[in-house]
Amino acid sequence: MNSRLELLLTAKARGHKLAVLTAYDYPTARLLDEAGVDVLLVGDSLGNVVLGYPDSTFVTMDEMLHHTRAVARGAQRAPVVVDLPIHSYDTPEQAVSNSRRLIEAGAHAVKLEGGVSHAARISAITGAGIPVMAHIGMLPQSVREEGGYKVKGKTPEAAQLLLEDALAVETAGAFSVVMELVKPEVARTVSAALRIPTIGIGSGPDCDGQVLVIHDLVGLFPWFVPKHANPLASVGEAIREAAASFTARVHGGENP
Ligand code: KIV
Repeated sequence: MNSRLELLLTAKARGHKLAVLTAYDYPTARLLDEAGVDVLLVGDSLGNVVLGYPDSTFVTMDEMLHHTRAVARGAQRAPVVVDLPIHSYDTPEQAVSNSRRLIEAGAHAVKLEGGVSHAARISAITGAGIPVMAHIGMLPQSVREEGGYKVKGKTPEAAQLLLEDALAVETAGAFSVVMELVKPEVARTVSAALRIPTIGIGSGPDCDGQVLVIHDLVGLFPWFVPKHANPLASVGEAIREAAASFTARVHGGENP
């Protein structure tokens, strides 16, 4: 296990809540690293908030590799976890070979979506010596089949399946698990049942850490703001104002 990840392994026992943010480029990675964020996630939300795709199902391995290299150059301290994009881990063999490519590009760990159904793939990757962050609950790579970003764990049966997913990824060797859009009371139960840290997004306060898409935190994607996002800055508005002011000055004959 890479030394950058080692602190994460003891975080839950120490009661240290993990702060995880996405980064897709060098300056953002460097700023978040300097700010003390615990983990930088090169999420395949890259597709939604950077590349202009409708969702993450359009993202390719080559795109993830390109952005991983940029983030790795900016992250001097924090571990870099990178999403395996859709169809890059359809078999255990493919999962291992694509995980190796991401590690070569600068990742310290990979992330993939799926619980019980993906346990063998997680075991294959961890068996190859590559740390895995799992992702259960709402799975963005399945958004088209699901018909939207829907809350998970609404019935006792659904809550039980989520618990089984969580236990399966832990047993398969994942070092942490993202829980996306899980009912807060279910997320609390799952977090209490696991030894590994749960990282919540839209899943209430009782996870062992929280993750956000950086654009949602800083108001850099004003065209779609998820319900769980609580922007702490208005970077999109600041860019618009600066660009409009520059344009007005140039049109007025100034050299700003
Ligand atoms: O792709 C991503 O950014 C993610 C986070 C939202 C957890 O998977």
